[in-house]
Amino acid sequence: MKLRTIDGLDLRGKYVLLRDDFNVQIVDGKITDAFRIDQSMPTINRLREMGARVAIVSHLGRPKGARNMEFSLAPIAEYMHVPLIPDCLDKSFMANMHDGDVVLLENVRFYAGEEENDSEFAKKLAAGFDIYINDAFAVSHRAHASTVGVTKYLPSYAGLLLASEIENLTRVMETPKHPLLSIVAGSKVSTKIGVLRALARLSDTLIIGGALGTTFNFAMGANVGNSLYEPDQKENALAILKYAQQNNCRVLVPLDKGVGKEFAPNAQRFNRCIDEIEPDDVIIDSGIETTARTVTEIENAATVIWNGTVGMAQ
Ligand code: 3PG
Ligand code: MG
Repeated sequence: MKLRTIDGLDLRGKYVLLRDDFNVQIVDGKITDAFRIDQSMPTINRLREMGARVAIVSHLGRPKGARNMEFSLAPIAEYMHVPLIPDCLDKSFMANMHDGDVVLLENVRFYAGEEENDSEFAKKLAAGFDIYINDAFAVSHRAHASTVGVTKYLPSYAGLLLASEIENLTRVMETPKHPLLSIVAGSKVSTKIGVLRALARLSDTLIIGGALGTTFNFAMGANVGNSLYEPDQKENALAILKYAQQNNCRVLVPLDKGVGKEFAPNAQRFNRCIDEIEPDDVIIDSGIETTARTVTEIENAATVIWNGTVGMAQ
């Protein structure tokens, strides 16, 4: 896939709306893992060097269209040493910007129009900018105002991170080095059916983990206690297993799980085989044997494609 990138653009003095994914974990006002922010810096620095005037737009968590300061981007602005603009639709900051300046707009999901991909909201968000750059690969599967809606109103380009993610993904999808191992985890089979089928077609081995793995265990007849899973996805899970078999893809579902009696990070943890899960157990992590098997599979693979977390994530 060939994307339009920022290479060769004359951006001096231009107002750039830059979509980043700064959906990072924040505990007690402190960022616990800044990987996503750090990965976004090359594009931001390049835009600074090009003399652009950059306003970064991002979401954080799921505030559901309300101005809930628990989801404020303030800790991120502090980490980046850039000013935070308290309202993403208030463009009065633009008048005071100089070439190379960067600001961060407050959480775009404080407006319901973001997730509804409301065109009026997208128009207001785009107002005053000359171009739009998407560098938010991790949220590009969502058709929201700041990822899709604004492209109707502004000439749009891919940032360096988005372009490199697409390049890497295209390479491993089109000419993977075998053995190709795919690991798919996270919570929902329903939103991952497409990716599971595509990876089952391509991969030599497919490891299914996280709550997704729990749904597969359930579909295969296990009792999964009080855990997060999707009972209505049983047929889809079985269809994926069949499809993988037809495509000579070995599927590995969880053998054991780390369980607690509640879905909480500090819950006391027990390791249980998948057929020994008790009715009041809550699966919170990958099991010891399953994890060891995953490590061996990774060691033996020439290419690994990994999507989603295998343990509880807050
Ligand atoms: C993510 O962290 O997976 C992305 O930022 C998307 O967030 P969402 O699942 O809340 O849309
Ligand atoms: Mg995600």
